[in-house]
Amino acid sequence: MQTAEIAQRFLSYFEKNDHVIVPSASLVSPDPSVLFTIAGMVPFIPYLNGTVPPPYPRAADNQKCIRTNDIEEVGKTARHGTFFQMLGNWSFGDYFKEGAIGYAWELLTASEADGGFGFDEKDLWVTVYETDDEAAALWQKVAGLPADRIQRMGLEDNYWHTGQPGPAGPCSEIYFDRGPAYGRDGGPAVDDSRFTEIWNLVFMQEQIANVRSKTEFDILGPLPKQNIDTGMGLERVAFIKQGVENMYEIDQVRPVLDRASELSGRRYGAEHADDVRFRVIADHVRSSLMLLSDGVTPSNEGRGYILRRLMRRSVRAMRLLGVDGPTFPELFTASRDAMKSAYPEVETDWARISQYAFAEEETFLRTLAAGSTILDLAVTETKAAGGGALAGAEAFLLHDTYGFPIDLTLEVAEEAGLSVDREAFDLLMKEQRDRAKADAKSRKRALADLSVYSELRGRGETVFTGYTDLETESSVLGILVDGRPAPRATQGQIAEIVLAETSLYAESGGQVADKGVIVGPGFELEVIDVQRPVAGLVSHTVEVTAGEVGVGQPATSVVDAANRRAAQQAHSATHLVHAALRDTLGKTATQAGSLNRAGYLRFDFSWSQALSDATKSEIEEIANNAVHDNLQVTTRVMPLADAKELGAMALFGEKYGDTVRMVDIGGPWSRELCAGTHVATSAEIGLISLVGESSVGASNRRVEALVGLDAFRELAAERAIVSQLTTNLKAPRDQIPARIAELQASLKAAEKKIAQFEAKALGEKLPSLVQSAQRAGSSLVVAESLGTAASADDVRALALQVRERLGGDAAVVALGAEVGGRPVVIVATNEAARSAGVRAGALAKAAAGVLGGGGGGRDDLAQGGGTDVAALPAALGSLVSAVETAAA
Ligand code: ALA
Repeated sequence: MQTAEIAQRFLSYFEKNDHVIVPSASLVSPDPSVLFTIAGMVPFIPYLNGTVPPPYPRAADNQKCIRTNDIEEVGKTARHGTFFQMLGNWSFGDYFKEGAIGYAWELLTASEADGGFGFDEKDLWVTVYETDDEAAALWQKVAGLPADRIQRMGLEDNYWHTGQPGPAGPCSEIYFDRGPAYGRDGGPAVDDSRFTEIWNLVFMQEQIANVRSKTEFDILGPLPKQNIDTGMGLERVAFIKQGVENMYEIDQVRPVLDRASELSGRRYGAEHADDVRFRVIADHVRSSLMLLSDGVTPSNEGRGYILRRLMRRSVRAMRLLGVDGPTFPELFTASRDAMKSAYPEVETDWARISQYAFAEEETFLRTLAAGSTILDLAVTETKAAGGGALAGAEAFLLHDTYGFPIDLTLEVAEEAGLSVDREAFDLLMKEQRDRAKADAKSRKRALADLSVYSELRGRGETVFTGYTDLETESSVLGILVDGRPAPRATQGQIAEIVLAETSLYAESGGQVADKGVIVGPGFELEVIDVQRPVAGLVSHTVEVTAGEVGVGQPATSVVDAANRRAAQQAHSATHLVHAALRDTLGKTATQAGSLNRAGYLRFDFSWSQALSDATKSEIEEIANNAVHDNLQVTTRVMPLADAKELGAMALFGEKYGDTVRMVDIGGPWSRELCAGTHVATSAEIGLISLVGESSVGASNRRVEALVGLDAFRELAAERAIVSQLTTNLKAPRDQIPARIAELQASLKAAEKKIAQFEAKALGEKLPSLVQSAQRAGSSLVVAESLGTAASADDVRALALQVRERLGGDAAVVALGAEVGGRPVVIVATNEAARSAGVRAGALAKAAAGVLGGGGGGRDDLAQGGGTDVAALPAALGSLVSAVETAAA
């Protein structure tokens, strides 16, 4: 039975039993505290804990998941995959334990001809939470399962939560017995490899917090309703139904493994170490493909880092199989072909996905080459110093800075007869992990108290009226002061206000929050920020500028119209710039982030080279032509699937909120899913002026533009500068660049001439300098100030000429000058002077001390400098005395 068919049977069964079939949400979790969707329940959390009323009482889905906490296990067991699909059926306050057990049992044991999975009842075992007598009894009653195939286990195995505060509950797991060839008798409590878990039924009934570990957390209390969350491992059922040994050999994964085998010329099944590598490659390539497909791009932190790690581990495994060159073009293509029937987007979005994948591999292969050089050097140095172990700090640096995997470092060191100071390395790694953990913790804290919002959300969804109205009369539903519910807020306080309806736009989709006021009988509130802390709830952060506001009072939200207008000019302009970029650069220039506020827009997109001036002008021209053409802006609300059909550019992380808002500017030319506010026709934007283009990270670029009146003001300011230049340069506008070039050339020529004159003038001083020689101790000394000089080099050249002329007796030349506003002293000695113990370096240093600076140099020629030009005569005087002493 193909993997796709297993999923299809599951969904059909639950559809027949009145479940709404819901498409998979993105792998990218909307909650920043969990990077990825790690289980089928993640997208449903708001329904499970009652924050958002569920739109249906029953649902079923096939959810894409990523889990990387067991990454080291991948390839070593039959069932650890970093990407997997979880089939789930959901009850939100509808059926509970009995229903869940009944459905699961029927679907597993019904014959294939009847649409079931045809498992033999004798092969199935279950576990229940140790005190859950009810579930144990139901397994006997509903499924007729004998008591000795129902085992009880503790929190570790039979209680489910995500590791974050939220909904949780005891669970019951269903296991398949693969037979005595795979391990010991005695059921899953004894051997969870022979007995493979295929389906977990979670009885979601509690809200937990303060999660310290899998088994340590606080139960806050019951959820508003009892829910069912189940997860059937699609890959696990697939490997059992397909009669293969593990999840890497199923139809969706095996082709990558085979391709890796062909590329390496090594056979899968011949040697254990190689087999693990093949499986790692097959798993990681597929996970990377699916992450790229959901919009994750490789980077050094967060989600992007995990993607990078998966890809690098694949490259590394290929190298260990003896392939040093690029292999992703082959491996990713094989994975794409195996996954495209279930996920057509991996094919339609292939240009973008493959661009990232192939570039990442190339970069890493270069890294490996560079890292190898550094590692080789470290090995040589360690050996030269007689050491037997490579320093932990060295290994960490290679890992941290160059992305050089530790196992590779270990291997190379071993080949060279060295070990690696693992303890020091592990300590550095631990410090790094602790930093990351502390970081994650602080983020979690910021999110921890969403429960107050959930409570407010329970009072109803905030209606946003601001697409059409700038002023809306409504009422105050709730007030928070210092994050806690309060009956009122008084003058001078900062508070959060929730209204039943609001015309004020909450920050989202890159568009900043509206400015404005909220007024009511006896109060006035100035709006500082507007956010959507949980889906469907708008919270206004306000300062109470007059009076006192209380829950239940009427309140009117009033948008600052001029600011809104400018913000929507910027937002519509962003869509035009996005469309123009795609026109110019092609479809791979996809959005990576944006910001638009009154008068300004910023747009980040995936692209790895700087844009040429010509390209920038072209983009600006296309966008402004669209403004000029006064294109109609239309918005429509429709199911996500319809919008995709119409070619809307869906932003990643789009949830199956089921309906989306599609914004067209000029029909399909610019078509995006967007909840922002926009101008009515493009001419309202007025003008778009690109003012910047820069890089943000390795593979993203950023364009910035001014919009509307701000664009006009910027251009007007530039015109004023040009006009001043035409006056000052006495040249018409179009000749300004040539005129400036001319001036620069003649300035350069003049400077050159001056330098020649100065050098000549200095040269002319030579006879008088030689004349000025005086005796100090046993040396002839010339110590003179030259006035200003063009450069220290000129002074040095002159000093050497003077020394030459003084002949063979002990001679010292010290010339001072002002160069570029600062004092300089050059000291030169001849051989006889040096034999007499006079050293230029020491003299220059002493003179520099008088000048308020430092100096030094060789015995024959040295230089000193400082800050105090007026001290030059004193410095030279002290130098003469020093020569007297030195030579005495
Ligand atoms: N949430 C449960 C799991 O992931 C079904 O195992």
